[in-house]
Amino acid sequence: MDPLTDTAQIAYRLTLCGELCSGIFSSAYPTTSSPLGDLVRSRVFPSVDSSDSDRKRVLLGHIIATKHSALTVTDDSMAFPSDWRTKYQLAPSTGHSEDGETVCLHSLCVHPDFQKHGLGKVLLLSWVQRIKDLGSGKRIALLCRQRLVTWYESAGFKCVGPSKCTYGGGGWMDMVMEFDGGADDDNF
Ligand SMILES: CC(C)(COP(=O)(O)OP(=O)(O)OC[C@H]1O[C@@H](n2cnc3c(N)ncnc32)[C@H](O)[C@@H]1OP(=O)(O)O)[C@@H](O)C(=O)NCCC(=O)NCCS
Repeated sequence: MDPLTDTAQIAYRLTLCGELCSGIFSSAYPTTSSPLGDLVRSRVFPSVDSSDSDRKRVLLGHIIATKHSALTVTDDSMAFPSDWRTKYQLAPSTGHSEDGETVCLHSLCVHPDFQKHGLGKVLLLSWVQRIKDLGSGKRIALLCRQRLVTWYESAGFKCVGPSKCTYGGGGWMDMVMEFDGGADDDNF
């Protein structure tokens, strides 16, 4: 996927269902001597962020999600209607469906300089709790590479086998976390 499509996809998801997304932030001054200070020094911040302070807020990790009717993440749930800005649909066949009972986690990412410090797990677990509290889905589904299966299992997800999704050339595993009253194992 090219960067322009990525940006359009992020704009679509944050606009239509930002309440299903999450971020973990910190802040620092350009003079701070730490990896966080290095990050602040490496960026050009918009003026709105610097009106009366040199302290800058930085996004260290994010989760982006949508809802869909399928039990696992599918190509349809990853795509989005090209005319979404002018023609709102409650439950389109591609993209975010308000009626969907599966919360599809499409992107979980921690800044490379801050990985392996537990941020990813904190972000994931707190987001899972928030999604459960929202009560707007029966399960969470995601795709991951084989090397991350154990990591997601340690957060309470179950591997239900190889995914049919062709995104990025395929080769993904389907991971699911069923909430109370969700689907049985034989549904997958
Ligand atoms: C996958 C990803 C989100 C994990 O984020 P993270 O912040 O590095 O995750 P954590 O620190 O919580 O856990 C990662 C590992 O660090 C270890 N760790 C956690 N805290 C640690 C600490 N204080 N010191 C050393 N290691 C630590 C964990 O035990 C875990 O090890 P494991 O993989 O052997 O189980 C991150 O690597 C990432 O953004 N990758 C690129 C995008 C990606 O692949 N996203 C997933 C798509 S499905």
